[in-house]
Amino acid sequence: MSAVESQESNVLILSAVIGGAILFFIFYFLKAAKSEEDESQKQNAEAEKSRQGSRNGAAVKNKNDEGKQTSKKSKPPVRTDQKAAAFTHPWLSTSLKGHSSTVLSMDFSSNGKYLASCGDDRSVFLWPSKDFTSKEHKSLRINIEFDHATYIQWSPDSKAFIIHKAVENCLEVYKLNKKSDGHGFSGATKLTTFPKQHVEDVVGMGISCNGKFIMTCSKLTDLVLWDLKGQIITTVDTYLMNNNCARVSPCGRYVAASGFAPDVKVWEVVYNKSGDFQAVNRAFELQGHKSGVLDFAFNCDSTKMATVSKDGTWKVFNTKIEYQKGEDPHLIQTGKHDYASQEGNRIAISPDGQLVVCSSGSSISFYSVETGKCEGFIQDVHTSPITCVLFDSSGEHLLTAGDRHIRVFHNVVGFQIKLLSLKTSLKGSNQSSAMKERIQQQISQTETFLKKFEN
Ligand SMILES: *[C@@H]1O[C@H](CO)[C@@H](O)[C@H](O)[C@H]1NC(C)=O
Ligand SMILES: *[C@@H]1O[C@H](CO)[C@@H](O)[C@H](O)[C@H]1NC(C)=O
Repeated sequence: MSAVESQESNVLILSAVIGGAILFFIFYFLKAAKSEEDESQKQNAEAEKSRQGSRNGAAVKNKNDEGKQTSKKSKPPVRTDQKAAAFTHPWLSTSLKGHSSTVLSMDFSSNGKYLASCGDDRSVFLWPSKDFTSKEHKSLRINIEFDHATYIQWSPDSKAFIIHKAVENCLEVYKLNKKSDGHGFSGATKLTTFPKQHVEDVVGMGISCNGKFIMTCSKLTDLVLWDLKGQIITTVDTYLMNNNCARVSPCGRYVAASGFAPDVKVWEVVYNKSGDFQAVNRAFELQGHKSGVLDFAFNCDSTKMATVSKDGTWKVFNTKIEYQKGEDPHLIQTGKHDYASQEGNRIAISPDGQLVVCSSGSSISFYSVETGKCEGFIQDVHTSPITCVLFDSSGEHLLTAGDRHIRVFHNVVGFQIKLLSLKTSLKGSNQSSAMKERIQQQISQTETFLKKFEN
């Protein structure tokens, strides 16, 4: 090749590279501009709603009441939902304020110290759970650039979190940075972005408590298991026509999915003695609903599962079974679910498995698993359909999300149920006097707590 030719080809390559780079940047800016535009359209719409609200004489909330915005990039929140700010209820312990639009997902760290939440305001918030009973809340805001998280889960060691990003439709892992004094976190660093795998929106994401796998599941029928580095371990076809929801059991042994077909399918993820992945085996199914299961939940030790269906019922199953010997889950209780709204149908079961909370639209109902009866109802907890209901690990609090505020309720119905069962166990047995004394003590503590909510 002559020097001239070589120069010419260099120029050619150079212009190709520059051209490519320009195209890339144009594409990139268009994409960024598009999401900015969507954002501002949404905010304009909200601002308009807000103006209408003010005209109707609703009180406008003081700016100083808002959660602190620590980021420079974040836009000031548009104060639209005065109704959200005005919500009160005797059982409400507090509202966590910081997100500037809808909270989509929440998860407690396994050590119970933090709640993580994510929303379509492109942020993740960490909230120390010890503040739930006080009026003041510290929080740490972490920005998700050019995208927002639809699901969030803590890593089992409580040192990192995983999000599912809406636009890119992939997972991302963030490591939390400890403050220099060792107390709390100062921020988070992006560690890994998983390759995009799902064609459709993800409807479930979870991580096993042993840290062996991460599960994602899309609206179609594909469920994927990943290792923590972002390599696919295996994929499963759920054969549910369409998936509505998918979860990893708290014991880390099962993955489960529900969808258009009325059964919840549960698989066991099998590892051999040296810790190598072997297979995903069909374990058991929760049967009996007449229509698709909209949401389901495990209790804390995976011995019970609760389901809520389009057929207008909820069910609780005993899943402490030997499915290898052909044993099926036992139905413990079923009851009516007010399927008033197409949206906001979520379910949570208390850690002890005694209480089920179902949401419909923006309201929540409390059902006793023993009797099946509705023992509590709270209307319009949020200004839009509920996205997430969650018990804390003690079962003393119930958290809900549905607008930009997170509601933290005292689990009053849970305490009432506990009181009844304590009284039963005191009456109906020949326990030692030391044991009886302990139960009596618990009864009076519970009664004292419940007195605060009587009126
Ligand atoms: C576990 O599985 C891996 C890969 O399938 C294999 O190499 C290993 O020998 C197995 N270990 C045991 C204890 O069976
Ligand atoms: C109660 O006492 C009887 C006889 O003293 C004993 O056989 C039984 O196992 C006890 N029941 C419980 C629940 O401890």
